[in-house]
Amino acid sequence: MKRMIRKARLRSWVTAGCSSILATSLLVSAAPVSFGQMSGSATPSVAQQRLLNWWRNAVVYEIYPRSFQDTNADGIGDLNGITERLDYLKKLGIDAIWISPMYPSPQVDFGYDISDYEAIDPQYGTMADFDRLIAEANKRHIRVMLDMVMNHSSDKHPWFLESRSSRNNPKRDWYVWKDGKGETATSPGQPPNNWQSAFGHSAWQWDPKTRQYYYHKFYIQQPDFNWDNPEVQQAFDKILNFWMNKGVAGFRFDAITTLFEDPSMTDEKVVLGKDGKPKINAFGDEVVDGKKTDNLPKNHVEIAHIRSVMDQSPDSSFPGKRVMIGETYVPTINDLLQMYGTRQKPEFELPMDTQIGFINKLNVAAFRSKINDAETRLDGNVPLIVFENHDNPRIDMRYGDGVHDTDITRVISTILFATRGASLFYYGSEIGMKTTPPKRKEDVRDPVGITGWPKEKGRDGERTPMQWDDSQYAGFSTVKPWLPVPPNKATINVKAEQAEPNSILAWYESLIQLKKTNPALRSGSNVMLDTTNTKVLSWLRKGPGNNAVVVATNFTAEPQTVNLSAASAGVSGTHLTTLLKTPGSADPASITAVSLPPFGVYIGQVQ
Ligand code: GLC
Repeated sequence: MKRMIRKARLRSWVTAGCSSILATSLLVSAAPVSFGQMSGSATPSVAQQRLLNWWRNAVVYEIYPRSFQDTNADGIGDLNGITERLDYLKKLGIDAIWISPMYPSPQVDFGYDISDYEAIDPQYGTMADFDRLIAEANKRHIRVMLDMVMNHSSDKHPWFLESRSSRNNPKRDWYVWKDGKGETATSPGQPPNNWQSAFGHSAWQWDPKTRQYYYHKFYIQQPDFNWDNPEVQQAFDKILNFWMNKGVAGFRFDAITTLFEDPSMTDEKVVLGKDGKPKINAFGDEVVDGKKTDNLPKNHVEIAHIRSVMDQSPDSSFPGKRVMIGETYVPTINDLLQMYGTRQKPEFELPMDTQIGFINKLNVAAFRSKINDAETRLDGNVPLIVFENHDNPRIDMRYGDGVHDTDITRVISTILFATRGASLFYYGSEIGMKTTPPKRKEDVRDPVGITGWPKEKGRDGERTPMQWDDSQYAGFSTVKPWLPVPPNKATINVKAEQAEPNSILAWYESLIQLKKTNPALRSGSNVMLDTTNTKVLSWLRKGPGNNAVVVATNFTAEPQTVNLSAASAGVSGTHLTTLLKTPGSADPASITAVSLPPFGVYIGQVQ
């Protein structure tokens, strides 16, 4: 009986998002898949392959739970709020949600300082609420991914409390402790070296009780684990399995490039400016190059280990492959390639491609080159395109011009969904929410802003409550929310945009639907077109059979006309059938003359 129920559920997952003909053929072979079993020699069936590959063209939606939907009138979002909005997310067309940390936490870094990895913070609900969220998401074929913070815990985690209790406590070595320099009976002396916290100032904190410093890459309240201790690895293997057994589809691995530190513990190199003097950052500190604390080779060994834990996890309530998203802000395409690992030792399925999304200026040549890198220099792996998240100003501040922001959002989202790969976006992007930083220091909630004010205002601006409607608190809550609702909720909100056929929300829905249903946009290769043009970025998606789609995005405030002929890429059609275009623009008469309004977009099928 149990098996039959599982089989039915699996069928429903397999068929989700398939065309009906394909779905019927898949049903015949659908069978429960255990990924332990799948790594054996048997060739997976089509149905199994579909479950294995769900992430390859996935659309993932990041939810910052504190700001998404409050259901218990405390001004803070909660898990029940996410459940309540699942139908909205389903209509949007997403495959998975990634929920930023909702574990118990003192909330110094709003959840990224975890004090219990296997529970739910009461602010966000209960474990029963979580189980219900998973069950309701399953019904709608939405996968749930969690945030996994392995670099550090909260300083209130029982493990750290034990660690700091005495030098010979069994958990002492779970964290990174070191003697200072020049300590005397009356003074702690100096920190062990010049390593810096990403959130400003020294990364070392003196602990008077045991008279040593501990290392924290982030806040003082976020001590780093010592990943050279195998017990830390064992503890996290257990945590990963705990959540996978609850049916989560995978994790986004936080701060994953900083797990290990150079054992020499020697100083980082200070970065010099053009004047030969040390560069100074927004916190007033000398900039260091991070080579001793970021992206060390041992990280890859650990990521490959995590991947093996994920792949071996028994198939319990989740039907399909568990997937690893990486927070991988790495400097080059080659570093990004390393994040996928090798065939023998795979690492992330989806390390974030920050090469493209964080160019931070509308420069056609830069986008062309980075998108082409993702296509040609990642060894056939799937790029995870991303522009926005809870740590960075939204698109308006990084790409907008204050005049054409709506059209620029169309350009950016077209790159997000219509280039090859998986797409990751952040709550509110789909309605064009704007960055709203605090105006006064006393209003800042994010400690990054408190430390860095006024040069660095912190991340509150991109964490404001989701704008569901134009009511006082935007339908997010019935009481004053933890961060203020931006006044632009009057026009930028879900309800208004659902009623407006040319809204950004409607644009997102159309783009996502195209990405899911058009064969070329779903899985076609990506070939850049018109490659010397400095005003319009154009590309071809070449799909199976005769399917080919061209995409053109105008990066300027003037109208442009482009020739999208793809003959050089082996596509011979001369005409286009429009799939999606900027509202109000004309259908092109020929593939050789496609007109685009200012910051206009055109997507068409080659005939
Ligand atoms: C990651 C998170 C960020 C957090 C930091 C420390 O960068 O995205 O929000 O503050 O890690 O956990």
